[in-house]
Amino acid sequence: MSSSDASRLSVTRIDVAAGRELDFADWVTAFEAILIRKNYGRADTIRDEAEPHRFYAVRHWNSAVAAQQCHGDPEVQTLAAALHRIARVTHLVNGVHRADAVNAAVVDRRGGAGSDRRAGFDRRQNRATNPPGAERRRGTERRLGPRRARERTAPGDLIAAARRARESASAEFSKFKVGAALESTDGSVITGCNVENATYGLTVCAERVAMFKAISEGHRAFTRIAVVADTAAPTPPCGACRQILWEFGGDLEVQLANLTEHKGTHRLKDLLPLPFDARLL
Ligand code: THU
Repeated sequence: MSSSDASRLSVTRIDVAAGRELDFADWVTAFEAILIRKNYGRADTIRDEAEPHRFYAVRHWNSAVAAQQCHGDPEVQTLAAALHRIARVTHLVNGVHRADAVNAAVVDRRGGAGSDRRAGFDRRQNRATNPPGAERRRGTERRLGPRRARERTAPGDLIAAARRARESASAEFSKFKVGAALESTDGSVITGCNVENATYGLTVCAERVAMFKAISEGHRAFTRIAVVADTAAPTPPCGACRQILWEFGGDLEVQLANLTEHKGTHRLKDLLPLPFDARLL
């Protein structure tokens, strides 16, 4: 291990949901214990004096490799999923060194160029340019991609992204076009549209397309999804989509909208009461 490797830091902002403070305290104890028990490093959890539900978790990794191992550890992943059910988690700084944390964060935010400093929880995509033939993203959507991945998307932007995704729907049979935009915990937005085919039954809804795209691109934790159709009444996710969203996204915030209006916001746990999932296997 090089000496610079010995002091890698990550900083995460954690906004704990009201009423879940005790769950969070238990979570901190369990997480800090794993870091030490498995020799990944140690964590300090600091409360924001101005905002009582806001905490900053500063992780001091024993090495970059330890950070990566921690990230891939199933026990840690289970804990991370639990945290996402009680808090909004924003990764502020990933894998920088103690002395140059601020400078390195600035370099890291530029994305693409230079050596890859990332480690630990940074799940941004690596692609610095659009694929050949792809249009440069315009307007609102331009702000949603990997380069600015850690900024939280404004609610209107997530819906705008779902509206744009809907334009790509392949709905020749139902003529019912749907768009979805899924926000991952690092702020990336992954979109989907419904894709139908001549057998009808193999149709995949916009929400599952978005989730499967996200999973295949390496995202593992999510905050919100927006679903858009061109109807006066909101279009909630179908049963199959609720199951997939629950298993991969947990208690997501679900925003429903049409082409002009926001029609409502729900929690997925309310749309899928008494869910079946891996905890029951
Ligand atoms: N659809 C979605 O994509 N998402 C929903 O939430 C509801 C339904 C699609 C499936 C099918 O292509 C069309 O809408 C009509 O059911």
